[in-house]
Amino acid sequence: MSNNATVYRTVSADDFPPMLDPARYGQRSSAFDKIISATNDHFWDPLDTRYIDFSAPFDIENEYVVQPKLTPEMNTGIIERLTEKQKIHLNNRVQHHLLSTVLHGEQAALNMSANLCHMLLDPGAQEYCANQCREEARHVTGFTKYISARFGAPAPVTGVLRTLLVDVVTTEQVWKKIVGLQMMLEGFAMGLFASYYQFGNDPLLVKLVQLAMTDEAFHHKFGKIWADKTIPHMAPELRDQVEDWLRDTFDLVLKNFSDPEQKQHIYAEVGLTWQYVQSAMFEAFTDDFHRKQMQESTNIFRTVIKTLLKAGIITQRTAPYYAAFVDMKELHAEGESMVGDEIAEEGIKFLKGINMFGKAGQLAAE
Ligand SMILES: [Fe+2]
Ligand SMILES: [Fe+2]
Repeated sequence: MSNNATVYRTVSADDFPPMLDPARYGQRSSAFDKIISATNDHFWDPLDTRYIDFSAPFDIENEYVVQPKLTPEMNTGIIERLTEKQKIHLNNRVQHHLLSTVLHGEQAALNMSANLCHMLLDPGAQEYCANQCREEARHVTGFTKYISARFGAPAPVTGVLRTLLVDVVTTEQVWKKIVGLQMMLEGFAMGLFASYYQFGNDPLLVKLVQLAMTDEAFHHKFGKIWADKTIPHMAPELRDQVEDWLRDTFDLVLKNFSDPEQKQHIYAEVGLTWQYVQSAMFEAFTDDFHRKQMQESTNIFRTVIKTLLKAGIITQRTAPYYAAFVDMKELHAEGESMVGDEIAEEGIKFLKGINMFGKAGQLAAE
């Protein structure tokens, strides 16, 4: 059986007997071997202060947790009605909301990688997904601890983003899980974490996203490898369906990323209604605004478009839609490296330095 066919073979999540087929064990593709063996290099433990210390202080009342340019509301006319103290409050509360969404996204990634183990027949892909599941679990722990240290309890995820997370985790369609989560949401995560790394003011947050990126860079690679091996072999109708679903979902996330109705309780804390914030957003977030924002290399939407383009999922059918926001020729000409890859590499160097020593400070090999 060819490598490509092996990677693509799936069963439904509750169909266990095919896993017991003696012939299956030997049908292992080597496509994921490199990213499997890299997992030890980027090991980290959110509960071990040698990696990250969640007791580090930060003056959340008087300091912007991230630069206001990363907070959608802070790029609108509403800030003219706020005092400096209110601006800091709004900025940090909106980031609490966004980081809570990240936490829920990590949980979705954990569940999805666990259920891919039940669906992918390739033992190599299963081994990769089991490792990813473990890594997503430490992200859940890490973001839970960060939110608790800075804000208290996580906020719920609501609206369109909640529906999307539930859809990609519970769908029986493997392509939707992988392109929806591994390519699209991991692409958003890489862009968002790179933005936090670059424009975060809280050193603890900067550290956390870098550690998460040492893992996410590989998750993102898995999606790319899978797409390269399978998309060219899909029936044309299914391939078109995948491409259209991605465009529609991208558009949905772009339009709902700052969904003001979901944050009305936050705006009330600084005396604003969500309808007022929404009208200020309509005024500020034009296609031209999005286009300008997407010129920034760490912009999360640009990161996703590049991921999809490099995976060959954007063809002439949907290219005109994305071309309204980014220069497709320029993206085409860019190399394969993803935003955040360098940040992840630097993080892995730091981790290797710790990981060569055992818990008691002894060389692990001893
Ligand atoms: Fe993650
Ligand atoms: Fe991930």
